[in-house]
Amino acid sequence: MEKDRYAVIWTQINGDPVKMANIISTGREFRFSYTQDYLNTGSTTGVSIFSSPDIFEDKPIVHTASEAMPLYPRLMSLIPGQGKKNIQRRIYNNILAKYDTPPAPGFDTEWALLMMAGRNGIGHIDIFETDFEAQQWYEEKQKPLLQSDESELRSTIWQFLKEDLSMALPEDIDLVNLLGPTPSVGGMIPKILATIPDLPNWNGDFERPGLQHIDGHKSVEVIIKIEYPEYAGLTQLEALGLEANKKSGVITPRYWLANIDDLPMIAIERFDRTQKGTPIPIESFFSAMASATTDVTGATDTDMERVGRMLAAIGKVAKFDVKTSQKSVYQRFLLAILTGNGDMHLENLSFIGGNDGLSVSPMYDPAPMRAWSRHNLLSAIPFEIEGSLRDSIIRLGKSFGLNKKIATELLHQCAESTDNFQEQVLSETNVPHETQKRLVSVISDVRKKLGVVG
Ligand SMILES: Nc1ncnc2c1ncn2[C@@H]1O[C@H](COP(=O)(O)OP(=O)(O)O)[C@@H](O)[C@H]1O
Ligand SMILES: [Mg+2]
Repeated sequence: MEKDRYAVIWTQINGDPVKMANIISTGREFRFSYTQDYLNTGSTTGVSIFSSPDIFEDKPIVHTASEAMPLYPRLMSLIPGQGKKNIQRRIYNNILAKYDTPPAPGFDTEWALLMMAGRNGIGHIDIFETDFEAQQWYEEKQKPLLQSDESELRSTIWQFLKEDLSMALPEDIDLVNLLGPTPSVGGMIPKILATIPDLPNWNGDFERPGLQHIDGHKSVEVIIKIEYPEYAGLTQLEALGLEANKKSGVITPRYWLANIDDLPMIAIERFDRTQKGTPIPIESFFSAMASATTDVTGATDTDMERVGRMLAAIGKVAKFDVKTSQKSVYQRFLLAILTGNGDMHLENLSFIGGNDGLSVSPMYDPAPMRAWSRHNLLSAIPFEIEGSLRDSIIRLGKSFGLNKKIATELLHQCAESTDNFQEQVLSETNVPHETQKRLVSVISDVRKKLGVVG
């Protein structure tokens, strides 16, 4: 029989650490309830948008466990992803393998990973096995991991990452201790959370997350995404995607491109931390939808019409400007279609803020993935196509509260602000010619079908 497992959730959402909830995971269900301490803070922000302490108070929130989703969806996002390029999973698996009795593959391992990695990640939720462990962890002083003269060591780390993570860990470097229990981030592209000097250009120096200064410079919290040969040109194309969104008026984070030891990377400023480093809640559309319904179990497991309706439902549980948000998501969708980013799925859209002030997060992951044939989909999330693509897309606006006139106007605005996107793709020196050609042909085809300029 499955054993019961216990853990605790803490958060630093208000600056100081406070215990938020107790967790019990049985084979069949996952449940948690808010602590009196947390309820006393009066916060309406909880583990997830749909589990506000305001609504549940001290009653348990119960999630029926399934193989795909053994834990509450918001907690699933704290476990390092399954992809073979996931740096965090590889590092943690190395630690687990050294245990006297390593956990069995399957849920035992996932739980062990959550206990090690489920803190200091994206958003405001920290998971620990015990309160004692939590208190110790928050008390630990944040020290630099690398000394300023250790640029060679930094290089070696990039080298290790460059070797496709398939090479054995270098004997003389304890990467496990060096990168520490690195906070995990989901997604497909290998990445780490770090701080870099807040300067116009980035030379590859990085430190652990949470560190306020690097070698005397003010630091900035970033996600560093690393480009691998099978996606040659991806970091440059992602930057183009960010620029296209920015030009259209979508809020985008700052970013830095660098090529360090022949390894192209992009560092993107995190929007889930304040200037002082206090965590800001963030939850993906997937997590929000999956915690409210049982039939959404994957990031493309819905349709765009339903996404529009879900945004309206959020307005009932949080302080959330439904109209502005619906328009913004529809606009991002148009931009995704127009720039060959077929990859706008439920993990690439998030809510940010607490239930007392929630909005759609700044843009992230807008890479034009249709440049690679295996990702060449018009839209990762389907929508009704009946008649022409143009009519169908304008009709979709209705699910986002936009009438035909406004949806058409938005389409033309987005088309205009991306009318030089194809030229930009062709002028990127690090994108292979084949990739450029494929992307440009996909985009020009879609723009023709939409009857827009460019
Ligand atoms: N600038 C950012 N600030 C905070 N969180 C972010 C930011 N960019 C991405 N994330 C989080 O990290 C996850 C992975 O990043 P993403 O760019 O989507 O990588 P991938 O290309 O691997 O899907 C996202 O799903 C999101 O939760
Ligand atoms: Mg992503």
